[in-house]
Amino acid sequence: MEDMIANNFYETDRALTEYLLFHYGDPQELLPPSFKFLAALNFPTQCVTECLDSQRLPAKSRALDLGCAVGRASFELARHCTEVVGLDYSDRFITIAGHLRKNGSFLFGCIEEGDLTHPCQAIVPPDIDRERVRFQRGDAMHLAPELSGFDVVLLANLIDRLSEPRRCLDELPRLLDRGGQLIITSPYTWMAEYTPKENWLGGYEHGGKRHRTLNTLKEILSPNFQFSESKDLPFLIREHSRKFQLGIAEASIWTRI
Ligand SMILES: C[S@@+](CC[C@H](N)C(=O)[O-])C[C@H]1O[C@@H](n2cnc3c(N)ncnc32)[C@H](O)[C@@H]1O
Repeated sequence: MEDMIANNFYETDRALTEYLLFHYGDPQELLPPSFKFLAALNFPTQCVTECLDSQRLPAKSRALDLGCAVGRASFELARHCTEVVGLDYSDRFITIAGHLRKNGSFLFGCIEEGDLTHPCQAIVPPDIDRERVRFQRGDAMHLAPELSGFDVVLLANLIDRLSEPRRCLDELPRLLDRGGQLIITSPYTWMAEYTPKENWLGGYEHGGKRHRTLNTLKEILSPNFQFSESKDLPFLIREHSRKFQLGIAEASIWTRI
């Protein structure tokens, strides 16, 4: 019985905070004032439309989407870049992204409730040249030396899922050519299951100082990158027909100097 209580999510500090805000939070505490619900529906596209300055790209440009998952942002980058590499650690995601590249669509079961599903189809917008994109499996913390000379590198909601995010950030200067654009988005959901606490980039207090991820990113990146701006990018992940994860990533935009 004691063990059951100790392992119960609803006994944790986190559950208590979530539910206090869920039941009593006022709208200003729950959502930032700029929040627009519909904007959360096409996050991978917005990572490109809201963050990439396509005017600054050379005629033939190359992009790298680190932690690309099933590839939508990689395809969106191909609207602007002649060559796009989508890289992810998940074999499953890379296989399906490769299927989408080859066939333009993929059929899957969309969860309604429990084990009940209905058929859905993921479709790559037909006006995108899928030939510009290639997907490969890889580890963003141990990248092959051939990966270099990019004009755009996107890390969408990746850093807080890495065991050693600094290792990935340390690779960035060699990946980008001078003038190249770096886009990092993250909701900064630091969790010990993914990132041992000593490797968190923010979200902790030490020596009386509250450490925020964006400040740490500035410290790590400033020798090689100029910070341009940051903005909120909401996202909505559907778990089933009546449950959704709503996140608000912070996008920070940088130029390789
Ligand atoms: C939160 S998801 C974000 C996916 C996608 N960028 C998006 O915005 O929807 C994190 C992704 O990072 C990938 N990932 C986790 N660890 C990785 C690593 N070491 N190298 C490359 N990808 C990794 C996961 O497989 C997953 O696809």
